[in-house]
Amino acid sequence: MCGIVGCIGVSNAKEVLLNGLSRLEYRGYDSAGVALVNNGDVIINKCQGKVGQLADSVKNVANTSTTGIGHTRWATHGVPSDVNAHPHQGHNKRFSLVHNGIIENHAALRERLEDQGINFTSQTDSEVLVCLIESIAAMSAVSGEEAVRLALNEVVGAYAIVVLDSEDPDQLVVARKSSPLVIGVSKDAYYVASDATPIVAYTKEVIYLEDNHMAVLAASKPPVIFSIDKATPKPPYIENLEMDLQSLEKAGYEHFMLKEIHEQPTSIADSLRGRLSGERALIKLGGIEQYENRMASARRIIIVACGTSWHAGLVAEYAFEQLAGISVEVEYASEFRYRQPIITSDDVVVAISQSGETADTLAALELAKSAGALVIGVCNVVGSSIARFTDAGVYTHAGPEISVASTKAFTAQVTVLTAMALRLAQINDHIKKDVVSQIRDQLLEIPGFVEQILKNTTQYEAIAKDLRDVRDVLYIGRGLSFPVALEGALKLKEISYIHAEGYAAGEMKHGPIALIDTDTPTIIIAPGDRHKDKTLSNLQEIKARQGRVLVVTNQADTSLKQQADWLIEVPPTHEVLTPLLTCIPIQLLAYYIARQKGCEIDQPRNLAKSVTVE
Ligand code: M6R
Repeated sequence: MCGIVGCIGVSNAKEVLLNGLSRLEYRGYDSAGVALVNNGDVIINKCQGKVGQLADSVKNVANTSTTGIGHTRWATHGVPSDVNAHPHQGHNKRFSLVHNGIIENHAALRERLEDQGINFTSQTDSEVLVCLIESIAAMSAVSGEEAVRLALNEVVGAYAIVVLDSEDPDQLVVARKSSPLVIGVSKDAYYVASDATPIVAYTKEVIYLEDNHMAVLAASKPPVIFSIDKATPKPPYIENLEMDLQSLEKAGYEHFMLKEIHEQPTSIADSLRGRLSGERALIKLGGIEQYENRMASARRIIIVACGTSWHAGLVAEYAFEQLAGISVEVEYASEFRYRQPIITSDDVVVAISQSGETADTLAALELAKSAGALVIGVCNVVGSSIARFTDAGVYTHAGPEISVASTKAFTAQVTVLTAMALRLAQINDHIKKDVVSQIRDQLLEIPGFVEQILKNTTQYEAIAKDLRDVRDVLYIGRGLSFPVALEGALKLKEISYIHAEGYAAGEMKHGPIALIDTDTPTIIIAPGDRHKDKTLSNLQEIKARQGRVLVVTNQADTSLKQQADWLIEVPPTHEVLTPLLTCIPIQLLAYYIARQKGCEIDQPRNLAKSVTVE
């Protein structure tokens, strides 16, 4: 969480920083700030609120700076306020710092520094770090970057930082541990950011700074990279960025979420490109090719993920077990990592993450790797921490997802995981070859079906009008529709703030049915699969208690049409692929309800896109 940017050697640092911060605003948006070097002086402007407010407050600041650092915050230590906003300065105002992450031993360090007579102005752990750097620099005759390195060796926690030293304003010092940091390299300038989105407008050459490393960047000089613990030098490895600016714009849509929903025919097709071919019966996942036999013969596959990615994992559980005959456990990464789970070298652990930066998912993988398991990643962001940490993996290629509420990343994850299950099924011979081919062919039809669903969105406005004022909504489904129910509830609550719960339909009578009355509608995901009749019995039970129901199905018979208060139809497909279609109406529904309620759809309150804190 939090977005950090920095630049040196550019013609207008203020503009680079403000543009960069608006790209990174999805990471946090409760306060923002910049520090600009002007004639050797470091001038800080920061305020509570969004980047737009910061831009207003620096309107009259000269555009002459060539160096600066910036931050957009998601509060961890201390309320959102002007004082707690970054950049923070040391007690003598020599160093200025922006920080993403958490300094876990900040309380002990703060106490130690207070004993030295240092007074703090904010409640943040980040100010503790910059004061520690300043105190080390004041007490020992070391360079600014060495003071940063020595301070980081005393710090427990996660960080990506950019530091400006007013005694050496011609360089930036950057460092990372368990939080991402990308360096953009151009002829005379450097750009630094939490991800590549602020950089792509200026250069396509990037260095993904490795974990536990730092760099000193001075315009027109080669980058100096070294490890934080022993200052061991590391030659820079420059990579080419595969991202275009267009994919970061709204392209005429009112919100990124709506744009991303509508991109799904393309993003699903992109996630299959070069991997599936109907004609040649091919399923080729290059990233895991070397490990697919080991995966196919694994004692079990453990999937670790959070939020929407965890829901994709639940869909994959059905696909892997049903198609490839491999036993699967799906775990919340945040629980798995603290549970002392039994992991052996016969296990394969698959991490699913859009951002590839989720702290809990990364920590779960570290645990699994240390126990000898093979660790595989399914990530969207190329070069992300999880993608780099895993033994092998498959990118989902959904393109940048900016809206906090995940939509196209989910369908790309389900697509890739289904392709993976099919590939393992081919190796295991668990189901007949022609069934594998049949599902593979139908998977290739999914983008077209999604397009059909998205062509007709008129009914969602009307349904949203009926539902926008309810207090609670239940989502239910069985089998592969259960994760879709969970995902539907998550989507609705995160962007419309309506309380919503997803349940396995069979669980209704074990408690949730007590909630049913005329005011609590139920959204039933009931495609025409082997569970449909059972799920429709739940519908009867709800109707018998005066509950209203919205049914999402691909098989609307007359009785269903009569009983449902609202009905949304999607095209029929193979049972295992139904989540890819039934999830689209629930995304649209959440979007239109939130829109009618006037909610901040792309940046819902209290949330951030990339969850780099535990
Ligand atoms: O980047 P990740 O996929 O690891 O993120 C996991 C969750 O934080 C994420 O899916 C979250 O639940 C979404 N905001 C839901 O829309």
